[in-house]
Amino acid sequence: MWEFDKPYWELCDGAASSKMLRRICNFKGTATVNRESRTANGQLGLDRSFVTCAKVWEHESSAIFRRDWLCMGREAEFTSTSVTPFVYLGQQLLAVRGDDGVLRVFRNFCRHRGSLMVTPEECASVGQRLQCPYHAWTYDRQGCLVAAPNMDGVLGFEKQKFGLFEVPCAVGAGFLWICFEPQESLQAFLSPLQSVFQAWQVRELCVGAEIQYQVQANWKLLFQNYSECYHCPTVHPALNRLTPYLGSDTGPILGGPMQLAETCQTMSNEGQWVGTPLPLLDEDQRRQVHYFTIFPSMFLSVHPDYVLIHRIEPTSPHETKVVCQFLFQQVDLDRLGFDPEPAVRFWDLTNRQDWEVCERSQRGMEDPAYVPGPYSNLESIVAAFDRHYLRSLDAVESEVKPV
Ligand code: FES
Ligand SMILES: [Fe+2]
Repeated sequence: MWEFDKPYWELCDGAASSKMLRRICNFKGTATVNRESRTANGQLGLDRSFVTCAKVWEHESSAIFRRDWLCMGREAEFTSTSVTPFVYLGQQLLAVRGDDGVLRVFRNFCRHRGSLMVTPEECASVGQRLQCPYHAWTYDRQGCLVAAPNMDGVLGFEKQKFGLFEVPCAVGAGFLWICFEPQESLQAFLSPLQSVFQAWQVRELCVGAEIQYQVQANWKLLFQNYSECYHCPTVHPALNRLTPYLGSDTGPILGGPMQLAETCQTMSNEGQWVGTPLPLLDEDQRRQVHYFTIFPSMFLSVHPDYVLIHRIEPTSPHETKVVCQFLFQQVDLDRLGFDPEPAVRFWDLTNRQDWEVCERSQRGMEDPAYVPGPYSNLESIVAAFDRHYLRSLDAVESEVKPV
């Protein structure tokens, strides 16, 4: 059954090429997914190394989290103050709205001796220019160094070579996205979801509620869990009553619609609308919830009356931060007595049930005796996720060197 020519544990201390990582998954299929048949083709799950091994984690950081577009949250969160420091995967970043109105993202450190430029406590008092608090090197809002005291006599020093490092960013569907080494434009990356963004008017929606979680599980286990409802009857009896899992339809590779039960209007505690149904939806869309994973940083769940997003931020091989936001129409947020709680309570319970099974999987997979079992056909999208993940690792040869 197994095809690998080295034991999987050698991954962690040997030269682990991603081709080898792929082999240990026993994946023999093609890269193309048959969307109609919804079969996992007998594919096995990922090996335990993928959720435990620090070398795999390092490889993911260069192959995936540098080259894919990453959602950082609603654009509005970065424009409420004109300068916003934030951290992603240990990287210090700074969003700045320029004098020209353009939102840019920089590395949040000074080009002199690396001092953090702006802390969260300071962002409200930042002026038109960004002055380093250490030796007063000063940058404009386009990131150019405009003043560097006592540097005039320094041999070969040229101010224009010491601007803040810029990180490519773009705004799409009302979210700020960054990508350290873009392989395609954000527009191209998001193009499969354009019709969804338009129908649910995602760009115009506003955050009505937010919950944060710290989950003790590898980020991929969260993606895999979100990508199937095989677990719904056992883990989410309440959710299962609203969208019975056998009601799933075919859909895009990484997601698709589920039919709401006849007696339900949306996913909420009582199954009743929480927001006003979105006006551009057709009859079918008003009876469905669509679930999408946007690899590798986001889940998007569109309901007839609101949109739920999960931002997924890995913090270690076995820990993941999740920011869950509920987006409503402004007209709902302005309505006297509007209460997002029925949606928030419903999803908070569902989220916690999901995180618990992800954490149980993490702990079970950490056992050295664990070997992956086969996916059911109800896990065809999980199998597709794994294939996409392995292809992404393959895109960059591992630089893991023998210890
Ligand atoms: S570290 Fe910023 S001016 Fe010296
Ligand atoms: Fe679930």
